[in-house]
Amino acid sequence: MKRIYNDINLSKRNSFGVSESARQVVEFNTAEDIIDYFRSSRPEKWYVLGAGNNTLFTKYYDGTIITPVSSMLTILEENDDFVDIRVEAAHDWDELVRWSVERNLWGMENLSAIPSSVGAAPVQNIGAYGAEAKDVITVVEYLDTEALQVVRLRNEECHFGYRESIFKQELRGRAIILAVEFRLSKRARPNLGYGDVIKEVKARGEATVTNIREAICAIRGRKLPDPKVLGNAGSFFKNPIVERAVAERLLAQYPDMPHYEVPGDRDSVKLAAGWLIDCAGLKGWRDGCVGVHERQALVLVNYGGASGGDVIRLSEYVCAKVYDKFGVRLSPEVNIL
Ligand code: EPU
Repeated sequence: MKRIYNDINLSKRNSFGVSESARQVVEFNTAEDIIDYFRSSRPEKWYVLGAGNNTLFTKYYDGTIITPVSSMLTILEENDDFVDIRVEAAHDWDELVRWSVERNLWGMENLSAIPSSVGAAPVQNIGAYGAEAKDVITVVEYLDTEALQVVRLRNEECHFGYRESIFKQELRGRAIILAVEFRLSKRARPNLGYGDVIKEVKARGEATVTNIREAICAIRGRKLPDPKVLGNAGSFFKNPIVERAVAERLLAQYPDMPHYEVPGDRDSVKLAAGWLIDCAGLKGWRDGCVGVHERQALVLVNYGGASGGDVIRLSEYVCAKVYDKFGVRLSPEVNIL
């Protein structure tokens, strides 16, 4: 089944809550529905929008927004060690994490409370607290809109990296993710190495999957604004990866600057964009109806009534200030349309 809407306002379809419109929105259930749509309509300009948690609309979208609406979860295989599942793209990410935690399955608990749909998770390889979606994804199933065929990519074929995947590179504008398969472990494997996680878990007792989920939800709840209350798209910028020499120069000046090794790349170091913005004096900075969040400087917020253009102007201001102070360029994590 598919539904087509023309000239539709998108304010309820993006977590920033900006009020832009699109020429057309197509919601589909099955691969056949969307193949059928591509065969009959041959849209020239289109964009896949899941729950709209990582997209900023800055103007009228003169094309077709494609949104999957099926969210079935199927258990594919189960043994003493793991459970393999297949989940359709529209399934809410955190509902899935909750489902896994309730069954005492390991692998997703550190990714609790991330606003996302399942289909969006592999695109930017969502990650938090030392875990990434790629750690549990086994297969991504998508529609190749050129061949009009359903394709299954194994994890290693998805070229996952920090907030990166093949879906943001070679397959950008070509793939529509239909379902994702995951392997969840029955064996305990707590991942408590990031920041305050261990302290928060210990305050709750043993490192059970439930306690880890609760700890992560508590940490996120303290720092990150709920998009249902305050429009935002989580981290607006990526944490910048800079040459080691740049990081060393900055560390000589700011010895407390957070910095992280980049797996497999000894010449580069990852910095914390939130710290850079904070240290540039912008945390809590507000310009009319947009601002830098007061508890996590990496998040830009819409206090109500902002346009996409207002958010862009703020982001440019933030980038310029960070560049002036540190000589480091920030790039957006959010998709800007
Ligand atoms: N920091 C500050 N001031 C701030 C924000 C951060 O000094 O305003 C410092 C923190 O004290 C810490 C460091 O910067 O030393 C890193 O901060 P945090 O642990 O909050 O994580 P982050 O690097 O700012 C990343 C992800 C988040 C994810 C957290 C936890 C990116 C772009 N963001 O943020 O992901 O929740 O780590 O793992 O990688 C998202 O993608 O939307 C998102 C929220």
